[in-house]
Amino acid sequence: MIGNLNHVAIVVPDLDSAGRLYRESFGAEVSDPVDLPEHGVTTVFVNLPNTKIELLHPLGEGSPIRRFLEKNPDGGMHHVCYEVEDIGTAAERLKEQGLRILGDGNPKIGAHGKPVVFLHPKDGIGTLIELEQT
Ligand code: CO
Repeated sequence: MIGNLNHVAIVVPDLDSAGRLYRESFGAEVSDPVDLPEHGVTTVFVNLPNTKIELLHPLGEGSPIRRFLEKNPDGGMHHVCYEVEDIGTAAERLKEQGLRILGDGNPKIGAHGKPVVFLHPKDGIGTLIELEQT
């Protein structure tokens, strides 16, 4: 069911220094920061040949990653995102198997304008997993 790894998201305390690490030390292609106010994050995209790394920083008071950064002040890996062909079919299949989908259980439009769901981390071996329809 799952296809390519679309991205790995890392929450960072400082987007400038995180972007410099990937650009200057690792020699990767790194975007300018992009504010996504409807998702409560500012993102820097690192484009790798086979996938992306998303460096995330909280934007606004209600940011869903603010608590994560409080608990992990040095930053840390936040989630992995796998591609699926059909988000509705994927979500139904997982629910049938007893896996929990966060929120109201229905797909939402994610940070790339495509439908996504997040699985409960306890159902993902301690990892927050995002599924994105390609
Ligand atoms: Co994501």
